[in-house]
Amino acid sequence: IYGKKRGDNIVLIGYMGAGKTTVGKALAKKLGYEFIDTDLYIEAQEGMTIPDIFEKKGEAYFRALETDVIRKLREKTHCVIATGGGLPLRKENSDLLKEVGTVYYLMADADTTYARVKHCTNRPLLQCDDPYAKIQAMMKERGPVYARACHIRVRTDHGTLEEVM
Ligand code: S3P
Repeated sequence: IYGKKRGDNIVLIGYMGAGKTTVGKALAKKLGYEFIDTDLYIEAQEGMTIPDIFEKKGEAYFRALETDVIRKLREKTHCVIATGGGLPLRKENSDLLKEVGTVYYLMADADTTYARVKHCTNRPLLQCDDPYAKIQAMMKERGPVYARACHIRVRTDHGTLEEVM
């Protein structure tokens, strides 16, 4: 990012089911870095699960918490940070992420994503009648946002975990 110092963390962004948590944990282990998941961070801080936060406080409240977390993470070094899929949607957040570290956009096609998330019940945005159609629509809308928010793009629907890392 222009003129601003970039932290030496690794930041993973991308749609739900792109592999941010799986790749992030494995990468942190391999590098001897601390692993931070912004969703878990928020759940611990609020003492509530993500579905409960969405239901009881609303999505806008959750998005504001995401901004707070990213601000705090600017102080970190040697971390792998897996972000919630919607975190880079706020321009403010994606600018902050580029200060936190090198931002990798993990990408997978809609079929792979659907196969990975279809049995999950902890993602409120996919609790709908037609999650596959929702995934396709959200990916189309968010793709350009993720592309602008990242430094590097990586596919996770081909190759092994080792290769992705
Ligand atoms: C969201 C993604 C989720 C979680 C919340 C909203 C999104 O994180 O933050 O359910 O808007 O894409 P994961 O990408 O880790 O599933």
